[in-house]
Amino acid sequence: MINKFINKIIRDDCLAVLKKIPDSSVDMAFADPPFNLKKKYNHYEDSKEKQDYLDWCNDWISEMVRITKPTGAIFVHNIPRWLSHYAEHLNKIAYFRHWIAWDSGGAPMGKTLLPNHYGILYYTKSNSHKDFKFFDIRYPHPRCRACDEFLKDYGGKKDQAHGFGPLLSDVWNDIHRIRHKKRRDDHPCQLPVPLLERLILMTTDEGDIVLDPFVGTGTTAVAAKRLGRKYIGIELDPDYVKITEKNLKAAKETRINGSYVSVYLGHIRTMRDKDFKEIWENKGDLKLLDNKRYKITKSI
Ligand SMILES: C[S@@+](CC[C@H](N)C(=O)[O-])C[C@H]1O[C@@H](n2cnc3c(N)ncnc32)[C@H](O)[C@@H]1O
Repeated sequence: MINKFINKIIRDDCLAVLKKIPDSSVDMAFADPPFNLKKKYNHYEDSKEKQDYLDWCNDWISEMVRITKPTGAIFVHNIPRWLSHYAEHLNKIAYFRHWIAWDSGGAPMGKTLLPNHYGILYYTKSNSHKDFKFFDIRYPHPRCRACDEFLKDYGGKKDQAHGFGPLLSDVWNDIHRIRHKKRRDDHPCQLPVPLLERLILMTTDEGDIVLDPFVGTGTTAVAAKRLGRKYIGIELDPDYVKITEKNLKAAKETRINGSYVSVYLGHIRTMRDKDFKEIWENKGDLKLLDNKRYKITKSI
């Protein structure tokens, strides 16, 4: 039953499609819905009454939980205002794991505190660590832009710091929104692929199914394809579906020395802790340099 949806971008209303998907059939469900902030989309009117918006959100959130496997993960991205309501609903039907604070690197413009911290709610369908998939994740050592030295002191033991970078916390400030026109599509709120790659590496295996009911210009589907996962994308707007198809065609697998990693602009942004040895000790795709630097030797 689920097979007919796999590796497809479906142009339709997400609730109608979600209702056709069998129970417990996807490994990860990620949603980045319209924020009800009157954003300029091509087809979608982004301004509902508060309660209408929340009722609508609760409907697709319930569907996301229903279709996720007991081993799987549910993520919802939004501003804190709406996430606080989502959490109330999700706490009744799934298990809270984390509120990930994503500092996307925007610039405040005054009059209010810029919602620079977006949140990603992370829930699972099972409550025991034995029953849901979770992989420890490492990100690159934060370095000074000018001198390339580590920004953290690591208690004066920089030489003993991990070869690639620290384990991840629930505050992420090393992945930025794409501002450069050349690197973005014609969409008002496209997410960066490395953000989705991090969530996918953290909670799924190769071949797993990743679903996004508001796929926009395809960020989640592209991230899934690059990491050897299957995708299901749903999007109301035919223009965004076209852009997604184009982006998917261009997306290539990103593996270094046999392991899937998130790579952006020639640097590894995320790797699984368990893959580190394999990636670092095999000579093929990576050349290790001094001061824990490296060079990727194949084109990705
Ligand atoms: C915040 S954007 C998602 C952007 C996406 N994460 C990306 O990186 O491109 C929300 C998207 O949901 C779409 N949308 C709005 N209502 C929808 C619905 N009922 N079913 C499916 N898609 C919908 C909008 O057209 C918009 O592209």
